[in-house]
Amino acid sequence: MIKATDIIVEGNPLLKEKSKEVPLPLSQEDEKLLLSMIEYIDNSMDEEIAQEYNLTPSVGIAAVQVGMPKRMLVVWAIDEKGNEHLYPMINPQIVSYSDELSYLPMGEACLSVPREAPGYIHRPTRVTVDTYLYEKGALKKVRLRLKNYIAIVFQHEYDHLNGLLFVDRINQANPFLVPENSKPIVFPEEPSNNQQA
Ligand code: NI
Repeated sequence: MIKATDIIVEGNPLLKEKSKEVPLPLSQEDEKLLLSMIEYIDNSMDEEIAQEYNLTPSVGIAAVQVGMPKRMLVVWAIDEKGNEHLYPMINPQIVSYSDELSYLPMGEACLSVPREAPGYIHRPTRVTVDTYLYEKGALKKVRLRLKNYIAIVFQHEYDHLNGLLFVDRINQANPFLVPENSKPIVFPEEPSNNQQA
């Protein structure tokens, strides 16, 4: 099981590295890693387990965050309409994105950035992604169209595969600047804490 202490943080050079393509078919070792990432999010969202193991509630994780620079990520989050999305992805690739941007009014947070980092991150509202999805022990090649909150969580994780952290995307001169083509993502009820990715 992935523990809080397994998560690498800012300053670790691996987080600046471009992760490597995952060879297919999936090796047992890589499958185990992916399953442990899914389990980590599941555990982090279970209040009792999270408390016992000191896990921060998470909506996404990339393999490099546990020190494995492989192009693997998991998004597991509830969107602004209350729908749940679980996407264990292998070798995802963004094939197109919208000009329209979105941002989270509370900012983003990251398991690998254990500090306050105020500012907005503006990301394309809609992205189209070609990826292998892990489902019931098998891999399926799919084209996903993600939008709004789920697109933001996905792009945060995708950045990890390319050695980028959300703090790298904050406008240092004017962290709360909102470009004309960017809209806030509004949840009917704000989550009580800023969930990490
Ligand atoms: Ni992150």
